[in-house]
Amino acid sequence: MTSPAQRAPIDRLREHDMAERRQRLAAHAGIDLEALQAALAGGGLDDADADRMVENAIGTLALPFGVALNVRVDDQDRLVPMAIEEPSVIAAASSAAKRVRAGGGFRTSVDASLMIAQVEVHDVADVPAALDRVLAAKGALLARAAESLPGLLARGGGPRAVEARSLGGGMVVVEVTVDCCDAMGANMLNTLAEALGPHVAELTGGELGLRILSNDGSLRCVRVTAEVPFAALSADPATAREHARRIRLASEFAERDPRRAVTHNKGIMNGVDAVVVATGNDWRAVEAAAHAFAARTGAYRPLSTWREDVEARVLRGHLEIPLALGTVGGALRTHRGARLALTLLGVTSGRELAATVASVGLASNLAALRALATEGIQKGHMALHRRALREGGA
Ligand code: MEV
Repeated sequence: MTSPAQRAPIDRLREHDMAERRQRLAAHAGIDLEALQAALAGGGLDDADADRMVENAIGTLALPFGVALNVRVDDQDRLVPMAIEEPSVIAAASSAAKRVRAGGGFRTSVDASLMIAQVEVHDVADVPAALDRVLAAKGALLARAAESLPGLLARGGGPRAVEARSLGGGMVVVEVTVDCCDAMGANMLNTLAEALGPHVAELTGGELGLRILSNDGSLRCVRVTAEVPFAALSADPATAREHARRIRLASEFAERDPRRAVTHNKGIMNGVDAVVVATGNDWRAVEAAAHAFAARTGAYRPLSTWREDVEARVLRGHLEIPLALGTVGGALRTHRGARLALTLLGVTSGRELAATVASVGLASNLAALRALATEGIQKGHMALHRRALREGGA
């Protein structure tokens, strides 16, 4: 069976009604239509499953679920499921992805799935001696950490490094770096941190404090580049060049002004979060990591930048973002809709998912900057918003 990623892209979904779109999507993705409809029923989640997932459940709360088209990532065509309440985000990402596609599509490089588990101890009497003892016991700590995650070890992941730092005031943190493979990793890292806690307390002579993963995803970043030929910005060469210049100026505005950078990054997260939510991943973790990364220099900065190359007649965009995403475990165990989203995407690993999510983030950003730098956001955005109100009977 051909994977969805290998098939020719589908187009013009908006010209059909929802039933027809589902048929086309099922045929394209090689999924049985009835199975697709069953996966989407009730927002992809039964009351009984919702009841198992959280406490005091009284039902489920739906979001519109659509697909972005034209997304080509590292030579693979992706149908990208997005769950989002905001009009125009899916259309805008699809149309920006088409412009990027004209330049060959998105190119990505994705770090290994490394996350950090933290064990904190306090009231350490002799911090330098405690740090020495932890460093001398690195091998034993790594072995104990590995024992706590046999399933991850079997999949080729596991603990990779141990570090210890003084935080001042008799407080010490021991950090274990773990390759989480295709899992987001939170549960595994928390298990590991709790397993190591007593050993760390004994080694340091301190009182055991918190044992928890860090959501700082800076070891797990995705870098995406996009090259948009001027011709894909406008058929008129002078207009295209002017649009590229204005998009670069919009990027510089965000690079110079943290207040603008917040909104610039919000436009990126429109695309990122919609795919993260659709695939059942932890968007709070993604948001926390993204904004910490944006502020890593001490100033809040844009996650993406754009520059025009007048000689080559291309607009180049670059995005770097930490993304801790899983294609196994978490909500995917129970959420049929999220499992369908992953099937539609056709990704085979957490890293491929991260590459696609980051690409959609850059597409959303390009769409927003292009609209803002040319006709303004209200024309296209508000037209779709008005349609939503009209069709909603308001
Ligand atoms: C709206 O959801 C997102 C934008 O404000 C992003 C931006 O300003 O770049 C349009």
